[in-house]
Amino acid sequence: MARGISAAPSPRCLAVPVRGKCATIIHKYESLPENKPVPDYVRRMRHEDIDRVLEIDREAFPTEWPPPNFERELDNRLACYIVACRAEAGNTPELVEAIRKSDPPEKGFAVLISRVRKLFGNNRLPNKEPSAQDDEVITGFAGFWVLVDEAHITSIATRETYRGQGIGELMLQSVIDLAAGRKARIITLEVRVSNIVAQGLYTRYGFNQVGLRRGYYTDNREDAFVMTTDSIHSAAFRAHVRELKKTYQAKWGVDRHQLTH
Ligand SMILES: CC(C)(COP(=O)(O)OP(=O)(O)OC[C@H]1O[C@@H](n2cnc3c(N)ncnc32)[C@H](O)[C@@H]1OP(=O)(O)O)[C@@H](O)C(=O)NCCC(=O)NCCS
Repeated sequence: MARGISAAPSPRCLAVPVRGKCATIIHKYESLPENKPVPDYVRRMRHEDIDRVLEIDREAFPTEWPPPNFERELDNRLACYIVACRAEAGNTPELVEAIRKSDPPEKGFAVLISRVRKLFGNNRLPNKEPSAQDDEVITGFAGFWVLVDEAHITSIATRETYRGQGIGELMLQSVIDLAAGRKARIITLEVRVSNIVAQGLYTRYGFNQVGLRRGYYTDNREDAFVMTTDSIHSAAFRAHVRELKKTYQAKWGVDRHQLTH
């Protein structure tokens, strides 16, 4: 993935603090081995998530360190970073059912949690949005920049022990929706030529190989494929993603609540 975007804005641009530009909540329910449904969701990355995100980054891109400066990235108005979470401590059938039945949240995860708290009493959930330290495990993260009409995915990674559970795909769906919300026309990325798993996911979501950057990765001089979507606002692309979301829901038993603002 792109660790140095050639078209990156100057560091001055990175210092502009704009928050709350992208908040997405997507809930996913699936069966774990013990048949307990677990809510998975995607939300905007927060500063307090950074330590956990760095753990995932080191695991996923060990040879590409130093990592991005996430503190700065979160304050970068051109960037959007999300985390995928699993609400481990809230893993009771009653809680999941309450979340499932709740209306799509209007003001983010805090609203959803406060509704659930009302249902179960104040002791069930903490008096703040859950963080990695309490209710939730951060299972992955992704980020992109919007430069003119192009969203460029800078990172996408799932914690190793959670891979193959649809989390990468959930994050990619979120990135596509958020990029569309930010008026990007296309989405691009670089991917190692050897990274067949990631390429498979991108190809399924309509990314095409449009170029090769020779020796792009400085650790081993590996080449990168450049992959790009067609217009994400085109009827064909939107229909394609809609179908993929249906397939995803059928596969993972997903009930989705999404909010973008
Ligand atoms: C790429 C990555 C983000 C995918 O995350 P994930 O949570 O495992 O993805 P999903 O569970 O949604 O699976 C996506 C696809 O990958 C496949 N897949 C996942 N793990 C796999 C594995 N170990 N072997 C083969 N296929 C695998 C899934 O079957 C699925 O394929 P499908 O779309 O044909 O069904 C994850 O492998 C990762 O973090 N890799 C390291 C970092 C990285 O390379 N990031 C991409 C940089 S461009």
